[in-house]
Amino acid sequence: MTASRIALVTGANQGLGRALAEGLAAGLNPDDLVLLTGRDRQRVADAAREVAAAPATRARVSGEVLDVTDTDAVARLAEELRVRHGGVDIVVSNAVARLLPGESQAERADEYIDVSNTATHAVLRSFGPVLRPGGRLLVVASSLGTLGHLPKRLHHLFDGADLDQVEYAVESWRSAVHQGTAAEDGWPLWLNVPSKVAQVAAVRAVAAERRDGDLAAGTLIAAVCPGMVDTATSRPWFEDFSHAQSPARAAEAVLSLLLSERVDPAHYGELVRFGTALDWHSGTPSTEQDHLLTP
Ligand SMILES: NC(=O)c1ccc[n+]([C@@H]2O[C@H](COP(=O)([O-])OP(=O)(O)OC[C@H]3O[C@@H](n4cnc5c(N)ncnc54)[C@H](OP(=O)(O)O)[C@@H]3O)[C@@H](O)[C@H]2O)c1
Repeated sequence: MTASRIALVTGANQGLGRALAEGLAAGLNPDDLVLLTGRDRQRVADAAREVAAAPATRARVSGEVLDVTDTDAVARLAEELRVRHGGVDIVVSNAVARLLPGESQAERADEYIDVSNTATHAVLRSFGPVLRPGGRLLVVASSLGTLGHLPKRLHHLFDGADLDQVEYAVESWRSAVHQGTAAEDGWPLWLNVPSKVAQVAAVRAVAAERRDGDLAAGTLIAAVCPGMVDTATSRPWFEDFSHAQSPARAAEAVLSLLLSERVDPAHYGELVRFGTALDWHSGTPSTEQDHLLTP
């Protein structure tokens, strides 16, 4: 057991995840530890070395290979941190699979869903129980994560659902994509829409079960929307990047949730964008083109 804080970010070797790891390394104390995780050993080692050497870095930084689609590995790492450190203080589930324009969304569905959704469920299930009092567990979603982005006939699958029910809804969606019935069932073609709604629903499910205890302990579980960020994932989808934030800029609002002493109860279990909780029922299903990577 140690008094120093342990922070972990998934998909942290580039993009927003890396900026979050950098911000945590700068904002935490020298005896705290930031685990910069990702799926590729070399990319993780390179990023961890660079973040550790950054002038602003104060905390210790360690690279750790974690392919989030390996749910056993997610569970093993959570257990290891429980045994070694008594738990974890900050967890950010951030990884996303990169889709390119022109690729078949249906053909990439399994990887996309595994990285964004199956992994989010695994992180919530494995790290939720080892989150220390006063901890933070954030899932990076997007503005598309509010329920209104799905047609009304799908709302019952996610509204008020527990985590098993969210998982069931995700697997129903996956099956519909495989069977070619997703469109007639009402699922948006663009994978990031159902995926982000399901991520927020998963957060809401877990948060509903532990809200009172967490708020009493100063613990925050929430989903976050970073806004449009200039990263390798978003860049192929937009011609005009004049409104995109740098990853470091986009990380700021998320870092303030991670590092602030106080938890705003209005944020708890919600999708938070730049410090404001979005209404879960807001949003409208729009044309497929509008859905691309709306931040
Ligand atoms: N960019 C935007 O405008 C925007 C807007 C709204 C929401 N978001 C959300 O912000 C988060 C970060 O997005 P980003 O734009 O920063 O993406 P990014 O730059 O492409 O970074 C994605 C990260 O996820 C990692 N990853 C992919 N598959 C993985 C796996 N199986 N296991 C572990 N890590 C894996 C990637 O690793 P590799 O380097 O090995 O590929 C990479 O480090 C995502 O949840 C995204 O949906 C982004």
